Amino acid sequence: MLIKRPSDIASSEITSEAVYKDRRRFLQQMIGLSVAASLGGYLSPVQAAYGGKPLTYSKAKEFQLDEKLTPYKDVTSYNNFYEFSTSKQAPARMAHTLKPTPWNISVEGACAKPGNYALEDLLKPQALEERIYRLRCVEGWSMAIPWVGLPLASMLKRFEPTSDAKYVLFETLYDTEQFPNQRGRVLDWPYVEGLTIAEAMNPLTLMAVGLYGEVLPNQNGAPMRLVVPWKYGFKSIKSIAKIRFVEKMPTSSWMKASSREYGFYANVNPQVSHPRWSQKRERRIGEWGRRETLMFNGYAEQVAHLYSGMDLKKNF
Ligand code: MTE
Repeated sequence: MLIKRPSDIASSEITSEAVYKDRRRFLQQMIGLSVAASLGGYLSPVQAAYGGKPLTYSKAKEFQLDEKLTPYKDVTSYNNFYEFSTSKQAPARMAHTLKPTPWNISVEGACAKPGNYALEDLLKPQALEERIYRLRCVEGWSMAIPWVGLPLASMLKRFEPTSDAKYVLFETLYDTEQFPNQRGRVLDWPYVEGLTIAEAMNPLTLMAVGLYGEVLPNQNGAPMRLVVPWKYGFKSIKSIAKIRFVEKMPTSSWMKASSREYGFYANVNPQVSHPRWSQKRERRIGEWGRRETLMFNGYAEQVAHLYSGMDLKKNF
C-alpha cells in the first residue's frame, strides 16, 4: 500500500467483549433449535444486531476459527478502500455514495456462459454460509471476521470456464460518481485483481456478500467482494462488477503501482519481507502487542500444495 511504514494503530476496544459474548450465546442457543443440522451447520435466524439487513445462512463448520472475533465496529470503521480515500477512517464516512442495488456483473472471456448477470440471480439457487477467516493486510495488521458468502468455485462453475481459462480477473466498478477518489490517480482505475484458476476454485476462496450476519456494509465492498484468506488483504477485491476468464496472468492494480513491492501471488509469508518492512509479525486490530504471522496466514494445510516447487521469494 502507499504508506510510509506498517501501521501501528490504537484501535477501539469498545464493546468488543460484549458483542462477541452476546453473539456466541445467541449462536449456542440456536444450535439446539436447528433444523439444518443435516447440512453440516444451522440456519441463522433473522437478526439485525448491527444495523444492516440480516442474511439467512448456515454456519460452515469446517471454516471456523478459535480466535476472538474482531469487533464489528473495527471491521466496519477501519478500511482500505482507495476508491473513497487512502485514509482508513474515511470509507465508513464516505461510502454512502455507493449504490449496491441493483448490481450487475459482467462475465467475460474463456467460458461457455458469458453475459451480464444480476447479482440476485447469481446468488439465488445457493445457500449462503458463514466462515470465520483471518484477514492479514500487507501493512501489518490483521482481523478475524465472520464473513457470509458463497464458495467462489460454485459461482464460477456455472459460467462453464473452458480449458483456456488459466486465470480469473476481477474488476471493481468504475464510476466516479459512486467512487469519488477514482477521479484521482492514486491507482490505475478500475481496481483489478486476479487469481489462478486453481486458487479461484480452491474451497477456501469465498465470494462474500455479508459479514456479522448482515449484508456487506458499503465500506467493506458491497455488494460482493472476494475473500482470499491466505493472501494479503489487497487480493480481496471489493465491489466486483466484472469477472473475466483469461489465459494470461493478469496485471493487478498493485502490480502496476509498484511491481517491486506487490506481486501477483501475494501469499502471506513471514519469510518474505516487503521491500520496506518485515512481514514476520502482525497487529490484530483491537488487541495490544503483536503476534507471529503464520505461513499462508495459517491456511498452509489447505493451500500449500498450490505452490509446491515454486520459489516463493521470486513468486511473491
Ligand atoms: N478493493 C478495492 N476495490 N479497493 C481497495 O482499495 N483494498 C484492499 C482490499 N480490497 C481495496 C480492495 C485492501 S489493501 C485490503 S487490506 C482489504 O480490501 C480491506 O478490506 P476491509 O476494509 O473489508 O477490511
